[in-house]
Amino acid sequence: MSTQTEINEALVKYLQSVGYREDKTITELENETLKLGGVSQMQIAKEQGQFLEIIAKISKANKCLEIGRFTGMSTLFLARGLSESGKVVTIDNSDEFLPLAKKYWELDNMTSKIESIIGEGVEVMQSMIDRQHTYDLIFIDADKNNYLNYYELSLNLLVPNGIIIIDNVLWHGDVADEAKQDSQTNTIRDLNLKIQNDTRVEFSLLPLSDGLSFIRKK
Ligand SMILES: C[S@@+](CC[C@H](N)C(=O)[O-])C[C@H]1O[C@@H](n2cnc3c(N)ncnc32)[C@H](O)[C@@H]1O
Repeated sequence: MSTQTEINEALVKYLQSVGYREDKTITELENETLKLGGVSQMQIAKEQGQFLEIIAKISKANKCLEIGRFTGMSTLFLARGLSESGKVVTIDNSDEFLPLAKKYWELDNMTSKIESIIGEGVEVMQSMIDRQHTYDLIFIDADKNNYLNYYELSLNLLVPNGIIIIDNVLWHGDVADEAKQDSQTNTIRDLNLKIQNDTRVEFSLLPLSDGLSFIRKK
């Protein structure tokens, strides 16, 4: 039986150099985000973004929802994966970095495919359910303490055969360290177990960057 290859520092460097194809707009967005300082850690890894784009394409998703926009890199990758008529609705409870995100959406000619909503993720998603909105693909990358809520709300918003992708499910490796008992780590552990046992879905836990849970609603 094949086993999981240990991802050491050298292999991380290899994955970052060979597992991703360089892209000018994305590099500029990454560099401008880095200048923001510590908050830049919130940005998805480019390899993850590349994966999001492919999944949006091969799933032929038309309506996409994102919770957690920050400077808009994941939004941009998702938008790129959609057809001309496709739309990404992105929710964030802060408008602080929206102008920066918009600058790169515009540079990449993706503005017409993106709708930005400022609000609390749980409230906005609940109001979408109340209005019977549906989505084909949902990307969750916001506050970790709400991950169980976002997962349940997403299942309500998703069409059958729809996809949920959740970032940070390895939480820098803390999920495997029993000494780590803070609420964010425990919520992510609870979510990973819930998904594993949830007969409503099929899933794959991918160790790409900080871990992506890849879920299909039956
Ligand atoms: C990890 S960052 C998202 C990174 C983004 N996906 C990217 O590609 O750069 C998390 C974002 O979630 C937002 N957020 C935190 N709590 C939230 C909440 N309760 N509702 C909506 N957004 C929230 C933060 O403002 C932050 O921009």
